[in-house]
Amino acid sequence: SRSINLAVIPGDGIGQEVVSQGLKVLRAVLPQDVKLETKEYDLGARRWHRTGETLPDAELEALKGHDAILLGAIGDPSVPAGVLERGLLLKLRFAFDHYVNLRPSKLFPNTATPLAGRPDIDFVVVREGTEGPYTGNGGSLRTGTPAEVATEVSVNTAYGVERVVRDAYERAKARPRKKLTLVHKNNVLVHAGHMWKKIFDKVGEEYPEVTTDYLHVDAATIFFVTQPERFDVIVTDNLFGDILTDLAAAVTGGIGLAASGNINPTGAFPSMFEPVHGSAPDIAGQGKADPTATILSVALLLRHLGHESEAARIEEAVAADLAERDAATTRTTDEIGDALAVRVAS
Ligand code: IPM
Ligand code: MN
Repeated sequence: SRSINLAVIPGDGIGQEVVSQGLKVLRAVLPQDVKLETKEYDLGARRWHRTGETLPDAELEALKGHDAILLGAIGDPSVPAGVLERGLLLKLRFAFDHYVNLRPSKLFPNTATPLAGRPDIDFVVVREGTEGPYTGNGGSLRTGTPAEVATEVSVNTAYGVERVVRDAYERAKARPRKKLTLVHKNNVLVHAGHMWKKIFDKVGEEYPEVTTDYLHVDAATIFFVTQPERFDVIVTDNLFGDILTDLAAAVTGGIGLAASGNINPTGAFPSMFEPVHGSAPDIAGQGKADPTATILSVALLLRHLGHESEAARIEEAVAADLAERDAATTRTTDEIGDALAVRVAS
């Protein structure tokens, strides 16, 4: 469409710094006739300290009215672990039914990775985003006694699994290699694992052109390092996907380059785009953060909203920037944003 009404949640730590660069590149790449409106939401650690709120209903309602959300990072050491993660980030993913957590991995040129110089690595993880062990289902018994018990129940529904598996097949079908790998652990997690596999095979009957494969998650971590070129599209559970995509980022150029989209494919709610990395409080405010992951997340955002050529321009700019950079020189957050903004504009 000819206008984008964007919600911006800079969040904590380096979130503000990287989001500023993402917006800079977004403004530079958009054609004159696409009107960009942004509204910033003050959510995260500072807000929580000030008011005790993580995501009030009024803001959740207001966020619904946007075309998409750009998020920096959530989490701060001054807030107890889980408060912001559950109360803000996961609340958004669940409330807006972001069942596709899309995390592409590409081996960019000239990056510091153990896999440098390997054949083309270009795969995408479709991580389920609304179920699994992330639902908060579980509890504690006899807390504080030697007999304490804690459970964390993984919730898997046929509805939830089928819709994400179907989305992954569609993505695989649209790619040149047309290969889809299911990653789970059905030799141990027999209930959920078998349901995933059954649904995976059943939906697969509708996609004869897609080659399929199954891997246990532990074996998948080996192949991520030894043979990453074997992957094209991967579909997996929420927690396995969380872990695998950090590994994927580490082996394909670093967490500073890993982008993601929390997508509601139906369009019923706005989708949300964010770097895979966290708030990195140790380097916050120093201009040291690499904004590239956020800028690549802006590309995913543009593609989701139908601006394919602008998305591709950003990705090409990042590839060119990395190819030409002098690895011996460190650039500030701002300098990287400026360099990419110049490239996408020309
Ligand atoms: C991620 C993060 C989140 C997750 C945390 C911060 C809740 O690690 O986006 O990968 O586990 O999904
Ligand atoms: Mn993670």
